[in-house]
Amino acid sequence: MTEIAGKAAVVTGGGSGMGRGIALQLAKEGARVVVADIIAANAEKVAQEIRDRGGEAIALGCDVSDRASVRAMKAKANEAYGPILIVIPNAGATSFKRMKDVDDTEIDWIIQVNLMGVLNFIQIFLPDMLAAGEGHFVASASVAGFIPTLAPDHVPYTAAKMGIIGAMLNLRRELEGTGVQSTVFTVASIQSNMGANNSTYRPARFGGPYDEKIEVPKNFTPPPRKDPEEVAPMVTFAIRNNRPMLISDPIHRKNFEEQYLPIAMQAFDDVDAFYATKNKG
Ligand SMILES: NC(=O)c1ccc[n+]([C@@H]2O[C@H](COP(=O)([O-])OP(=O)(O)OC[C@H]3O[C@@H](n4cnc5c(N)ncnc54)[C@H](O)[C@@H]3O)[C@@H](O)[C@H]2O)c1
Repeated sequence: MTEIAGKAAVVTGGGSGMGRGIALQLAKEGARVVVADIIAANAEKVAQEIRDRGGEAIALGCDVSDRASVRAMKAKANEAYGPILIVIPNAGATSFKRMKDVDDTEIDWIIQVNLMGVLNFIQIFLPDMLAAGEGHFVASASVAGFIPTLAPDHVPYTAAKMGIIGAMLNLRRELEGTGVQSTVFTVASIQSNMGANNSTYRPARFGGPYDEKIEVPKNFTPPPRKDPEEVAPMVTFAIRNNRPMLISDPIHRKNFEEQYLPIAMQAFDDVDAFYATKNKG
């Protein structure tokens, strides 16, 4: 997709942080934006902000982990704007806890919101894009999924975000020749409200809001955080230029080279050695 102006877009988690930044940027480039969020009041604030800046937007409440809620939101979005050809499944939730301390509900919540929140949107919005012969998904994963050793005490979230990376890159192969494109956004070090607000948006079936702030483990120092509005133009660049993957902080090149590549290369060296020994014997 080369043209964003005039297209209808939906951004989940649009009421805060990175989602708000992407919604503002899409509107600035002429898209008609559905700001979707489980906290409908926050989605409405962002939609109003877009309208105040001269853009076009509506707000819709939606729990991305609940297919019925996603389908109901899509019906309202189609009523307002017709087929939605830019879909940004960005909503996410996290926690930093050791596996020995997490309960069933927390694992289910984190997997359902992050990973299923993306798959639900692909499944439900793809048919309209295929019918139109164009469209673009940009799903928010995380550097935690791209460099899984980076942040400790983050197993369910890392699993979900690595799953999103796999899903989006595999989807790209499936969509070859259809005119529909996809990008995985490995979000990294963004100023957001996740630390402060995470506990307020847990859906009722996973226990509802709870009273606990996220504590980043003491043996992990995240890099300085960037303003989502500074980063958001990277997302529209990826749409216009059909990029498979996007990362929001160059600092992680070094971490990828130092932490992830050696693990993969060791596995290849070991398998080479295994077959070399076997073939000799
Ligand atoms: N902030 C970072 O440094 C960082 C790093 C890596 C990845 N990410 C990812 O970026 C994305 C955006 O997060 P953010 O940092 O802007 O955090 P944020 O807390 O500011 O925004 C997340 C938004 O998602 C919404 N949300 C949560 N659960 C939902 C649900 N079930 N249905 C619909 N909406 C829901 C929240 O209400 C909130 O508006 C997430 O996928 C997150 O995992 C962020």
